[in-house]
Amino acid sequence: MSQLLLQNRKIVLGITGGIAAYKACELCRKLIKNGADVRVVMTEAATKLVTPNTFAALSHHEVLTDIFDSAEGIDHIGITKDADLYVIAPATANTLAKMVAGMADNAVTTSVLASACPVVVAPAMNTRMLINEATKDNLKTLQSRGIFIIAPEEGDLACGDSGMGRMRNVDDIFSYICALLNEHIALPYDPTKFTALPAPQEPIAITQTKLLPKSHGAGLKIVVTAGPTEESIDPARVITNKSSGKMGYALAQMAATMGADVTLISGPTNLATPNNVKRIDVTTASQMLDAVKSQMGQADIFIGCAAVADYRLIEPMNTKLKKEEHGEFLTLQLVKNEDIISYVGHLDEGRPFTVGFAAETDNFQKNAEDKIQRKKLDLIIVNNVADREIGFNSNDNAASVYSPKGIVTEFGKMSKIKLADLLMELIISQYKEAHSTKA
Ligand code: PMT
Repeated sequence: MSQLLLQNRKIVLGITGGIAAYKACELCRKLIKNGADVRVVMTEAATKLVTPNTFAALSHHEVLTDIFDSAEGIDHIGITKDADLYVIAPATANTLAKMVAGMADNAVTTSVLASACPVVVAPAMNTRMLINEATKDNLKTLQSRGIFIIAPEEGDLACGDSGMGRMRNVDDIFSYICALLNEHIALPYDPTKFTALPAPQEPIAITQTKLLPKSHGAGLKIVVTAGPTEESIDPARVITNKSSGKMGYALAQMAATMGADVTLISGPTNLATPNNVKRIDVTTASQMLDAVKSQMGQADIFIGCAAVADYRLIEPMNTKLKKEEHGEFLTLQLVKNEDIISYVGHLDEGRPFTVGFAAETDNFQKNAEDKIQRKKLDLIIVNNVADREIGFNSNDNAASVYSPKGIVTEFGKMSKIKLADLLMELIISQYKEAHSTKA
């Protein structure tokens, strides 16, 4: 397959002063071979390890090494303009610390501080430097700001030691970059597991992963429910539905990226907890209700994205149901579960701005209007679950948003993470508007 994975992508490659700088030559070559337009920026220390001429020859562009110079008329600010990604490989402990402090004292630190695109760093250093609390804290801080970290690996180090801290190999870094630019999410970086290369998982709205955190949601406490619930029939069987949790997890992730304090109340899913999100796991609808109740009084916004079972067995069986005992037909007696979002919407005290979802197959507007009135919601987001390419379990979704006054907006088919980004912007704006009217 000779597909150019990075066609039309503009990547800034920052190189700092680690021995692994020589591996950046191969990385640069591979990025270019796959269609990327690569602009190289080097610290002075890096130029002592590999000459800028090597990178100029590989990238077909002049290399920026000084904040007072420009390469082809492009300076340290201009070089990241229109960039899709800024990759720093190798990233030394010194550069990581400077990034945390917001320092701008060389071509790499200045240009990365001025960049608005997503940033990936591939740390490389001696093991003791890596496990030093200062470096660990710096990596955590950078990650909390939305910077992607390609965890280093174990192996022989430049200092002669062997251990953790070697820059990830070029193929791994290249795959990671491709995954990011082709809109896949990376697993959270775990400083206790340096060997784990965060694997591409779910789609991410790459444009929102900026160097500085978004602050739209700062100061807000947001509670999101996600996934299905499971109601026991007997010890082996459950009543559940097709919700994967992807939509709700994406909302939680985006709310956290926007600076909100997020609690995710999740039914059974296979998804990893998004960064900076507190997660409460539940199984049944009544456990979800209890978990939601425990959060009320503190929440500013409640988003009910979970597909909650409407009914449960009056009495689940203690032993496995035997078909020999029931013959051709089996009747199960079900009782209605309390409606969680309706409980929240009707709260007299401490009622949060309440946003529901509706999984519908027809009569979208009418059903949305009914639910918004009945459950006393501020907004409802309607999904067409008859379309198998969106809604339950897919990576994409589309939505129509209604308020008690009627249609607010419609979003066409896109990845759930992109939709979550747009929805969170909208929900927080509507919350703020409602709040300023009340005040
Ligand atoms: O999880 P994914 O695979 O990503 O799929 C996402 C989704 C399709 C599940 C999601 O986008 C969605 O539409 N969630 C709501 C599904 C649903 O239960 O819709 P509903 O029309 O039955 O319920 C309406 C609202 O009432 C929902 O906010 C629901 O959370 C809430 N509800 C329902 C029953 C109940 N007992 N308590 C509730 O709070």
